[in-house]
Amino acid sequence: MSDSDLVRAARQARRRAHAPFSGFKVGAALEATGGTIVTGCNIENVSYGLTMCAERVAVFKALSEGHRRFRRIAVVADAAAPTPPCGACLQVLWEFGGDLEVILANLRRETGRHRLSELLPLPFDRRQLK
Ligand code: THU
Repeated sequence: MSDSDLVRAARQARRRAHAPFSGFKVGAALEATGGTIVTGCNIENVSYGLTMCAERVAVFKALSEGHRRFRRIAVVADAAAPTPPCGACLQVLWEFGGDLEVILANLRRETGRHRLSELLPLPFDRRQLK
């Protein structure tokens, strides 16, 4: 699957976002090492703190379906500026995805491309627990 296919899958997933409070719809498409694509969208709640971001929906869906290792994630929002994963998502992506490739895009074009380690340069992970 090409990068643009992955971005297309994230755009499709974004259409299923439930974001009546912020109006900010996000879609994500995560590629597992075996090639399976698992998508996610943000799901808000009237009790705002219960909201779940698109990226974590994708990661948790993938894990619950038996995927354990990942290669790339595409994240799509309707914004001119790049929309990187939030801090909580960076932490969860690092835990399960390691140094993933992160492709950012809006509805028309790619807006950025990063390694996860660029976005989270000094991660807290199991190495600190030793
Ligand atoms: N959001 C995501 O889905 N992913 C991010 O990484 C940033 C924020 C969602 C959460 C909330 O529903 C809306 O965007 C506004 O913060």
